[in-house]
Amino acid sequence: MASYSKGLEGVIAAETKMSYIDGEKGVLEYVGIPIGQLAEFSTFEETVFLLWNTRLPRKGELADFSAKIRALYELPAEIQAMIGQLPKDAQPMHVMRTLVSALGMYDAKPNATDVPTVREKALKILACAPAMLAYFHRHRQGKPFVKPDANMGFAENFLYMLNGAKPTAAMVKALDVCLVLHTDHGLNNSTFSARVVISTMSDIYSAITAAIGSLRGPLHGGANEGVMIMLNEIPTVEAAEKYVHDKLAKKDKIMGFGHRVYKAYDPRASHLKVLAKQLAHDTGNMALYEKSSRIEKVMSEAVAAKGIYPNVDFYSATTYHCIGLPLDLFTPMFVLSRIGGWSGHVIEQLSDNRLFRPDVDYKGPHGVAYTPMDQR
Ligand code: CMC
Repeated sequence: MASYSKGLEGVIAAETKMSYIDGEKGVLEYVGIPIGQLAEFSTFEETVFLLWNTRLPRKGELADFSAKIRALYELPAEIQAMIGQLPKDAQPMHVMRTLVSALGMYDAKPNATDVPTVREKALKILACAPAMLAYFHRHRQGKPFVKPDANMGFAENFLYMLNGAKPTAAMVKALDVCLVLHTDHGLNNSTFSARVVISTMSDIYSAITAAIGSLRGPLHGGANEGVMIMLNEIPTVEAAEKYVHDKLAKKDKIMGFGHRVYKAYDPRASHLKVLAKQLAHDTGNMALYEKSSRIEKVMSEAVAAKGIYPNVDFYSATTYHCIGLPLDLFTPMFVLSRIGGWSGHVIEQLSDNRLFRPDVDYKGPHGVAYTPMDQR
């Protein structure tokens, strides 16, 4: 038996050319480019091109790539009809998991695993995901669907379909930055799930569906909703200190803090903190930002020495709230972005595949005689 690491901590299980993390120094790069530079200068579409091609696009290439995504924004009519039948109280993460899976049934060749075809399928899933979420949100509100506008970029078109009104440039930029920051992150649990599934030579719809199921857990992408629930539970900025200490005394986790890989400040959180502050100021939500900031201060005094700092989910909660998104769409926003990363990993895995099949350390008895039913 080879060595065992609970939760696969510290185990290298794949090679990637997409994102690099130095958890001790708080560094994240996509294809070598520091995440801060991408947040400032890139767009979500360009970032996805970068990850899928391991280089930045030239002007014409980016225009072509964006045009291809925009041409695929609309959902098949059958999926639109399906959304109209969904229970209005369904959870959006369950909706996303179901609809990505369903999309595969309207693909003439869902099981193709050659890389050029898988890239086309990945584009389709990426392009269709915003309408799945926006249409479901309209459906549960009893409002008509707002058709996508191919003149708009990914972030702008999503907010337009969701709210039925053209968003401001500031909101579009804020959402786009969030999408860039969330696109890829090493071999996180959902990305690993996608790679494990595709390594059986299954199909990309199954791989992305599995990844969505993984992401929704509160220890992973579900934490951003947990953060907002916590912020809502804390009545005032002053109450934050007691709230945090009470939780820590009970050994409860504070959502949005800690990370398996980062033992320094998550570089995505530092960008989101600046963004959250600006948006909170612009939208009259400073109390929310100040509550977050106070929680961070208390946590830093209490547990920073253990390497526990805010992670990507902590300030993304305030950011999404200020963009006007309802709480249960926070984790689905992670999905819209991470489909870019998951798909890139599916392509990488297929390009040099080996079936994932680790061993398990059996701890049970041996040589036990079968006991007939009447003697148990
Ligand atoms: N609040 C309080 N204590 C914490 C926290 C936290 N958020 N995170 C870790 N700790 C403590 C934990 O109690 C333990 O203490 P002790 O050694 O005294 O028992 C120690 O730190 C190690 O914690 P762990 O849970 O064994 O470490 P891990 O590597 O398994 O945890 C984690 C990583 C993300 C699951 C964990 O930090 C956590 O549950 N955080 C809250 C949920 C969260 O914010 N998740 C989002 C992660 S980032 C985005 C993403 O990946 O989707």
